[in-house]
Amino acid sequence: MPALNMGHSNDNETWKIIEEELSRPTIFKSRESLAPEYIPDKLPHREKEIKLLASAFKHLIISPGSFSQRVLLVGGVGVGKTVTARVFGREFARIARLKGYNLRYVHVNCHRNRTLYNVVAEIARQLEVPLPQRGLSVKEMYDAILWHLEENNIYAIITLDEFHYFASIAGSDAVYFIVRTYDDAIASLKRLNFIFISLDTSKLSLLDPSTESYLLKHMIRLKPYTSSELYDILKYRAKQAFYPGVVDDEVLKFIAEYEGSDKGGGGNARHAIEILLLAGDAAEHEGSDRVTIEHVRKAISKTSREIINISETILYSPLHELMILLAIIRLLRRTGQTYVKMGDVEREYEMVCEEFDQQPRRHTQVYGYIMNLKKANVIDARTSGKGLRGRTTLISIHYGPLDLLEQYVVDLIQKKISMKQSGRRR
Ligand SMILES: Nc1ncnc2c1ncn2[C@@H]1O[C@H](COP(=O)(O)OP(=O)(O)OP(=O)(O)O)[C@@H](O)[C@H]1O
Ligand SMILES: [Mg+2]
Repeated sequence: MPALNMGHSNDNETWKIIEEELSRPTIFKSRESLAPEYIPDKLPHREKEIKLLASAFKHLIISPGSFSQRVLLVGGVGVGKTVTARVFGREFARIARLKGYNLRYVHVNCHRNRTLYNVVAEIARQLEVPLPQRGLSVKEMYDAILWHLEENNIYAIITLDEFHYFASIAGSDAVYFIVRTYDDAIASLKRLNFIFISLDTSKLSLLDPSTESYLLKHMIRLKPYTSSELYDILKYRAKQAFYPGVVDDEVLKFIAEYEGSDKGGGGNARHAIEILLLAGDAAEHEGSDRVTIEHVRKAISKTSREIINISETILYSPLHELMILLAIIRLLRRTGQTYVKMGDVEREYEMVCEEFDQQPRRHTQVYGYIMNLKKANVIDARTSGKGLRGRTTLISIHYGPLDLLEQYVVDLIQKKISMKQSGRRR
């Protein structure tokens, strides 16, 4: 790299440090391709599932409008549910368009869009349905979507990701509203097809019985990855992310064996990829031109399977939910107890609000946020037995380490607040 001489003296220490850092070669060809939201071109070991999806939605190309398909995609954390639906949807829509059909793929994260209103509004937004400025009811918005599809001869595959979460938060009426595609009276409903993504099948009882049994028959279950499967996935992802020769097979095998379901790991691809990324960062930080097993060990010691999973879950949590979570973490750390009491959490939360210069929410809202955190499996909350001073809610967190979690939550809170402030300035 040419020396940046702009007429100033370039022999001072700070200048040298910065120049040295800038001219250091990087081992990453594309670090961003290891980010959780990145969608790869191919998915090793999900070929069978993609084939099943293609077969389920084939009618959209062979005889569009003949019926409305609904498929359930189920599997544990990090087994590729989201990415399989996205990659399938992207390619299927592309093929349909080449064949002259206007097919749209819509992916809605129900954790980010928690209410029926938000889910329907998000579908409308992604389908680019023109909506009037005045606020519409959910029903009016849904009708506008159907009308838009009919008018423009569009078919859509809509994925409702984290569907179990939507079902428990929005309730059975909301779920029924979304999936009431049995209503044959409205032909345009057949333009809507669904993929529901869920961690398990326990929330299906919220559907009407015929939809439930239909979905169970159209279920695609994704199994945790074995170490040899993870090795292939890591090999592919590492080839995209690093320059040749930076990561040996030995390193990839080490990570794959640590995480593979056959070796006692979770079979979680997200976790495996996160370890690879952190190991790469550690190598880069040390100025090493290769990623070694030692870097992987460092990365593993920094990660906790649960914290990685939780960090994705709370990414879209509202600010006050995060501040309540922070209060819980701090209390648990300070007291060293397994459980903390609701009342104490509320007092701690008020202090957190003060620290971040925010107005605390009322008791009922705080309670609601705590229940949401419980539903998302971030915390555990239960009612105490009747003691001298009546019942109270006891709250706990069953994973850790809490110091890492605390740091993560504080960062997220700061990000949310600064985003809010820059939004206000605009
Ligand atoms: N077969 C695969 N090939 C390449 N990358 C994969 C594969 N499966 C998963 N991944 C990657 O692993 C990560 C986790 O996958 P994904 O987010 O789809 O999991 P998930 O099942 O939706 O998890 P969660 O239940 O937490 O939402 C993503 O970065 C994804 O790109
Ligand atoms: Mg997912």
